[in-house]
Amino acid sequence: MKFITTATYEKLSRQAANIISAQVILKPDCVLGLATGSSPVGIYRQLIDWYRKGDIDFSRVTSVNLDEYVGLKGDHPQSYRYFMQQNLFDHVNIDPKNTYVPDGCAADFALECAAYDARIAGMGGIDLQLLGIGLDGHIGFNEPGDCFVKNTHVVELHESTIQANSRFFDSPDEVPRRAVTMGMISIMQAKKILLVANGPAKKEILTRAFEGPITPQIPASILQLHPDITVIYSEV
Ligand code: GLP
Repeated sequence: MKFITTATYEKLSRQAANIISAQVILKPDCVLGLATGSSPVGIYRQLIDWYRKGDIDFSRVTSVNLDEYVGLKGDHPQSYRYFMQQNLFDHVNIDPKNTYVPDGCAADFALECAAYDARIAGMGGIDLQLLGIGLDGHIGFNEPGDCFVKNTHVVELHESTIQANSRFFDSPDEVPRRAVTMGMISIMQAKKILLVANGPAKKEILTRAFEGPITPQIPASILQLHPDITVIYSEV
């Protein structure tokens, strides 16, 4: 595991964007696993900048996102589909039909989840998976629990996650109580993993996840077993 500490969020964003950019240059038809939350915003901004300068070409890239809130349509401003459109997809030349985000309004979630996993497997898996980390150690929306959940699944969000994510909504009451998230198989089978975390609030959970025991109580701790993971942490 490589652990990089940067002095600023701008540097974190640049370094992470460099890794993603290298992936796209080396394999133009790669599969990028993408993440939402506040941490990746600066990375996407940097990638857009390099795209505008002609330094990166997304035309052959496929993307698969980690998760989506149950009940929010893609045009809802707090949906993760909307987030991805606003923060990346609408500003680069990725083919819209090659961008996948779980459907939070699926009629049948068992079918949707199985199809999502089958789609990822059909792509040959993920080349580079970008991750953030929740304060409780969740990745995607894999919340702490008694076991690691292997496949894409619907999850009940924990109260602490609802509170943490309520900053994006008008009130905590508006935060959906459930989400659909990629499970650990697709994440762990990604050829490379890049996890970003910024600010001192994330320091303790990073230490517990990467220096403590591997336990489903801290879902990110499973990443200790991944053969090619880079963690970038910014102190401010
Ligand atoms: C949400 C997302 C996660 C993300 C986490 C942390 O819960 N589902 O994928 O890692 O938020 O977000 P932030 O980067 O805003 O702290």
